[in-house]
Amino acid sequence: MTPRTSTENLLTDNPALYEARFPDPERLAGRWAEDCLRRYGSGPRVLDLGCGTGRDAAHLHGAGRTVTGADLSEAMLAYARVQHAGPEYLHADLRRFTLPGREFDAVVCLDSALLYCHTNGELDGFLASVRRSLAPGGLLVAEMRNGAFFLGRTELLDAPRVNGFTWQGVAYESTTTLSVDRTAQLLRRTRVWTADDGSEPVEQRSAWRLLFPQELRHVLAGHGFEVLALHDGPGPRTEPAWREGDAPGSVADADRTHLVARLN
Ligand SMILES: C[S@@+](CC[C@H](N)C(=O)[O-])C[C@H]1O[C@@H](n2cnc3c(N)ncnc32)[C@H](O)[C@@H]1O
Repeated sequence: MTPRTSTENLLTDNPALYEARFPDPERLAGRWAEDCLRRYGSGPRVLDLGCGTGRDAAHLHGAGRTVTGADLSEAMLAYARVQHAGPEYLHADLRRFTLPGREFDAVVCLDSALLYCHTNGELDGFLASVRRSLAPGGLLVAEMRNGAFFLGRTELLDAPRVNGFTWQGVAYESTTTLSVDRTAQLLRRTRVWTADDGSEPVEQRSAWRLLFPQELRHVLAGHGFEVLALHDGPGPRTEPAWREGDAPGSVADADRTHLVARLN
């Protein structure tokens, strides 16, 4: 059956399904973010941009921080308010936002949410917005794919990846194909979902900006940020995964980037 192309996002429109597909039972991402905030001496007020289901925001809240989570998806925000209560949850587009009356000591942006800034204008909009939201000396902590990984490597591009899982009695299968759009400097993803509940297959497309380490340093400096750490791990989504006590790495070669930058 030819898949129906959907502009919806099966995962971000179904937050419980998102958590089932990408479980983080040990709250590694939240713990890693908290470790960065402590290591670099952040104050308590944190904005989690692209907060998704709210599980990382709630972890930071539980660690004693005053947390605001922001996301574009109303479904994610509604889920977060119920399932991961504690933080304040707001609707915002990370590519350009103002949160009047609020100031933060740190902005965290996890699991490649920053890479939804596809164009240079969107990246500038993101950094200008983050800068406006931060107190002097505030931190930006981000964790995302590393564009440099794709220089000379095709292992993630060569063949579709098939993943199956069962959720609430329905068996789902996703077939994911990644390709590099060199002109737009985007990693494009096509994902076809099938389910054994009689629903028709659905095709969804999305993309991440491919950002390179030196490009990131340059654009951050242009917006008044000093890079304190930029490395490929260990982090919450690396293999092996980060553990408390692990020191930040010093190279940016593997498929994830971990960034800590301070606003001058
Ligand atoms: C891969 S999820 C990451 C969620 C969460 N940070 C985590 O690590 O579990 C990406 C999130 O970014 C959100 N998002 C996508 N584009 C956005 C935008 N322009 N502004 C704000 N949030 C956005 C999606 O709705 C989704 O919740």
